[in-house]
Amino acid sequence: MEVPEKILVVEFGSQYSHLIVKRIRLMGVYAELIYPEELRERLGPEVRGLVLSGGPMSVYDPDSPRISRDDLLSLGVPVLGICYGHQLIAHLMGGRVERSEAGEYGGVELSLVDRHRLVEGVPERSIVWMSHRDVVVEPPPGFRNLGSTRYIKYSILASDEYRIYSTQFHPEVVHTEYGEQILRNFVYGICGCKGGYDPFDIVEKYIEENRWRGDERALVAVSGGVDSTVTAYILREIFGDNLHLVFLETGFNRVGESEFVSRFFPEQGFEHVHIVDVRRRFLDTLRGVADPREKRSIFSRLYFEVLNEVVSRLEDRYGSFRYLGQGTLYPDVVETGRTSKYTDMIKGHHNVLHRELSRLEPLEPLRYLYKDEVRIVARRLGIPREVYMKHPFPGPGYLVRIIGPVDEERLEIVKRADSIVVEELRRSGLYEEVWQGFAALLGVRTVGVKGDTRSYEYAVAIRMVESEDGMTARHYEAPHSLLDRIARRILDEVDGVNRVLYDLSDKPPATIEYE
Ligand code: XMP
Repeated sequence: MEVPEKILVVEFGSQYSHLIVKRIRLMGVYAELIYPEELRERLGPEVRGLVLSGGPMSVYDPDSPRISRDDLLSLGVPVLGICYGHQLIAHLMGGRVERSEAGEYGGVELSLVDRHRLVEGVPERSIVWMSHRDVVVEPPPGFRNLGSTRYIKYSILASDEYRIYSTQFHPEVVHTEYGEQILRNFVYGICGCKGGYDPFDIVEKYIEENRWRGDERALVAVSGGVDSTVTAYILREIFGDNLHLVFLETGFNRVGESEFVSRFFPEQGFEHVHIVDVRRRFLDTLRGVADPREKRSIFSRLYFEVLNEVVSRLEDRYGSFRYLGQGTLYPDVVETGRTSKYTDMIKGHHNVLHRELSRLEPLEPLRYLYKDEVRIVARRLGIPREVYMKHPFPGPGYLVRIIGPVDEERLEIVKRADSIVVEELRRSGLYEEVWQGFAALLGVRTVGVKGDTRSYEYAVAIRMVESEDGMTARHYEAPHSLLDRIARRILDEVDGVNRVLYDLSDKPPATIEYE
């Protein structure tokens, strides 16, 4: 993306890499995530600084990701290394890194031992977040130590001569009390950024640069969710009445979305809104499929098969279509954790598959943005709050919330249970406090009693998580009264369920969705 100033964040496999980028953007400076091998080609005159992210590997692992000492010394911009980045810098610059006996994890107390503008505004003692076994045991020549914890002497290193700085802890996570201050000191104080980045500028630029396409026809497959809605609004600026919206009612869409789409978009002046009911076809194709990967893959393929047919029908009526607008977000474009043990968990992403399966050219106006930024853009576009604050919902919908084989009964259970969770979250005023709240049907049936008879029915899991972008998540400490209400209602109102469980797992090691 062309912007007047930017910070590049090199991804070394940390689950927090996107968080670093997001934090910097939130303080008003555009940042991008790059892979180590792209470093040279991505350096341009607008780059004001470089951050080296954390990562799960050790600098002594032969295939650990890295950049070279030459790169580090010839960048011409200040560098901040975080965790693995801190160890890599020490290693490349002639210091010594070792696996520590008493590794520090989680929140620990940091004491500043020296003053420097990197730690301006940080009190003498504060809590920082650690998450690596390796530590620097001997700083490289020319580096000063600014802070120590109980077990890790060299927790912040600084060299004004090289303009290289680094921390053993993660300033980007909220548990580091003054992490934002440290990042701010780096970005503004040391790199000299001016600030003023606004995600809406990216959208305006996109519209300007793509106006020339507007005489052709484009289609957005809307789901009722935030991303496709915002995409539709942006593309309308370019295509006007040449924009068509299609809602495929697969039966796996979020409850209420079909009604929402058929009412909302025409009300908002969208000229062409097509609702296509394909519920039978989806259920018939997916009935009995149990394997999670197979479910996703069959769903995506069928989705595009149907969408391509719809395009052909629309073309018979309106003339040819050239573009397909997609709500792809930045985290879908730059995948993190490629080198981590979590790589296998990354799911075949619906949006990314679109590119292969559709015969139309993709348009992705949100591909540089994070969810919170999309919400900021949505507000500026005049989209109502209850629309842009909707929780994320997976592309394959309830399909990934039915563990085991899919059938009508199970689909009905998960939908009814899910609408109860959402309704009660809204009613309690806590809907916006959680990143996502939903129900999933566990594949197991357990014994219970109903009236005087023994029942053998399904268990439903309730999941509510807090998150910043879905890449990591913490289970929500839901008020017991809310959980109680939800459980009672599900047990009373949803046939086939005799047990309700609350999911206490965080991500990692769990994911947010169940499949
Ligand atoms: P996981 O389950 O990987 O989910 O922790 C992270 C976030 O991504 C959403 N998600 C999806 N979104 N298509 C989507 O558009 C998908 O296939 C998909 N799978 C998961 C999930 O709801 C959560 O917000």
